[in-house]
Amino acid sequence: MIDDKTRLIGLIGEDTRKTSSPFIHNKALEIVAKNYAYLAFDVKDNLDKVINGLKYMNIKGLNITIPYKEEVIGYIDELDELSNMMKSVNTIKFDNGKIKGFNTDGLGFYMSLKDEDIDLKNKNILILGAGGAARGIAFALSFKENSNIDIVNRNYKKAQDLVLDLRSNFKDKEFKFNAISNLNLKNSKYDIVINTTSLGMYPNENKTPILIDGFKSTCVFCDIVYKPHETLFLKEAKKKNHKIIYGINMLIYQALLAQEIWFDYKFEDINLVKEGILKDLKSN
Ligand code: ATR
Repeated sequence: MIDDKTRLIGLIGEDTRKTSSPFIHNKALEIVAKNYAYLAFDVKDNLDKVINGLKYMNIKGLNITIPYKEEVIGYIDELDELSNMMKSVNTIKFDNGKIKGFNTDGLGFYMSLKDEDIDLKNKNILILGAGGAARGIAFALSFKENSNIDIVNRNYKKAQDLVLDLRSNFKDKEFKFNAISNLNLKNSKYDIVINTTSLGMYPNENKTPILIDGFKSTCVFCDIVYKPHETLFLKEAKKKNHKIIYGINMLIYQALLAQEIWFDYKFEDINLVKEGILKDLKSN
């Protein structure tokens, strides 16, 4: 219940009407009994006024979404190592007059794999797509683990740009790029395949980025699309008895990791909180 002790956290973006973030955050706050309220705000090109004003409103922190994840860096006093490498911030914390920046997007994905005990050490990972989500995931996985990452995209130039950026940040790791149309999956080496394209998401529910064919039986398939819950890509992988990871897990974990930053604590059992949110999200 909101009372005189309730403090505000929230999300700023351009069009947050359909976001699940308020539901996820408020549910987590309810589960761990924290007296905060999470609200979403569309800031309509007024990022400077909003951030400078919020500094004086005793707010704990904010998530930042499209299109402000890069622009917000101009207002930040201290970036953590990963967000500094990525030059993209999805979480800010107001801390003793300072604004600190973080990025939990890709780390949320990383958590969704760890959750399922998926070993990432020296594994071959294929990322489909080279947009903002692919970037977050590739940086977080490289930051956390020693795995080989290949990135393929419809526009291969974007895959190339992302790979060059990764190579300059992680000099001891291997990255390759290709056009998605050139992908040869015969006897494929991949251990994990991640769809970060919008194929499979409404209104493209009947589309899938690649055919699930030629993969090792142990290959794990992940999607970051969470509406629909089970994309065609995941359905096809499931039909062939591959392990699959749903996109909703990344969304929930990036939110929970942001709360850990704001509240300076670790959830005792983060998986249990995730499951609690998931249960209510599905029936919502
Ligand atoms: P996000 O932030 O979710 O990653 P984005 O930056 O707009 O969103 O990236 C969308 C990704 O989906 C891109 O990799 C895009 O490929 P292009 O760079 O070639 O546009 C991919 N994508 C979107 N529609 C696609 C389609 N019809 N076929 C293949 N890839 C598609």
